[in-house]
Amino acid sequence: MKNVVIKNIEGMQILDSRGNPTVQVKVSLSDDSIGIASVPSGASTGSFEAVELRDGDMQVYNGLSVQKAVDNVNKKIAKILIGENVFEQRNIDDKMISLDGTDNKSKLGANSILGVSLAVARAAACSLNIPLYKYIGGINATMMPMPMMNVLNGGRHANNNLNIQEFMIVPVGAKTIKEAIQMGVEVYKVLKEVLKNKNLVTSVGDEGGFAPDLENDEQAIELLLEAIKDAGYKEKRDFEIALDMASTEMRDAAKKINKEGYYFWKTKEYRTKAEMIDYIIDLANKYPIMSIEDGLAEEDWKAWKELTKKIGNKIQLVGDDLFVTNIERLKKGIDEEVANAILIKPNQIGTLTETLDTIKLAKKNGYKTVISHRSGETEDTFIADLAVGVNSGQIKTGAPARTDRVCKYNRLLNIESEIEYN
Ligand code: PGA
Ligand code: ZN
Repeated sequence: MKNVVIKNIEGMQILDSRGNPTVQVKVSLSDDSIGIASVPSGASTGSFEAVELRDGDMQVYNGLSVQKAVDNVNKKIAKILIGENVFEQRNIDDKMISLDGTDNKSKLGANSILGVSLAVARAAACSLNIPLYKYIGGINATMMPMPMMNVLNGGRHANNNLNIQEFMIVPVGAKTIKEAIQMGVEVYKVLKEVLKNKNLVTSVGDEGGFAPDLENDEQAIELLLEAIKDAGYKEKRDFEIALDMASTEMRDAAKKINKEGYYFWKTKEYRTKAEMIDYIIDLANKYPIMSIEDGLAEEDWKAWKELTKKIGNKIQLVGDDLFVTNIERLKKGIDEEVANAILIKPNQIGTLTETLDTIKLAKKNGYKTVISHRSGETEDTFIADLAVGVNSGQIKTGAPARTDRVCKYNRLLNIESEIEYN
């Protein structure tokens, strides 16, 4: 491998799609190559995620500024990484992990560490003059991911009465990403008309999906099916539905009223754990649902196990807050036969190397992988390259609207055209 070393690392504070400050990092190399990466941010974050360092000064950006994390990049991290071989990603990430010294990256902040980790990979790809997905996956990086498009938003992502956080359409009949995106956009547009005709609002939530008040969560699924049909497509053959219930939020709401189960705080409905499992199974039986994420909460291992036993052979059960891209939590899931897929969000764990290790373990054990954005995003498209680079099979990156979401779809279109003509 060429010996190209890190010459400079510069962090700065920029904004994410919600207008909150986040970290951007620029890594420059001895051969003048440059890599820039920006860090996303969640709203319904799992409590086992690596720590996002924020300044907490209420006079500045309501406490959300990330100047400390930026300073950590510019001073502490730059000091130990300048002069290192840029192609030794694992060594670079290990050095940052050791410098931080905590289990959850709370000292330096996962936002500072991840910004550097991703910018290093980009700089390395730039130095070799190859695209990022090829740097990550070599000549084997050829599989385009199936997109899950979040077209109706609820939960913490929208100020409406839907309890379920994400209602997604999955164009399972598409043969290419180009076709998948076209199909998704067509249904998204028809959905807007369907909502308008029912006098429902068409303003959007954090991930670009519409966020109307509806009679109940099931009506949201019915509306998706109506839009799929009206757009000239057939459910199951062309489209299936995926949900992210983000139910740690309902579990947290139940804790606040001293209850053991799940509280759907928007509609004031309470479900015990057993009722929650039945509710999920009913939804899966009634509708063409191929995937349910976080049907149960991050600490509810026993109920998760039962749910997996009951419908794990029928649909995909994705662990997000449950696994938080953390290899130890995934190991526990594998041992206890919990879930059959994992959501992959690099900022939940904080380095590219750890993200790749978790993906590898998942694949080895037959767990499906879904590479994912956060609800607070930037124009950075790293996850599109990552999804192709690791042949993840699936990606979740919001509605086909708003540049913070669309830029990932556009990047996938670019990648597919490159791969096709290779
Ligand atoms: P978040 O939501 O980025 O707000 O955590 C995304 C998800 O729960 O999958
Ligand atoms: Zn989720």
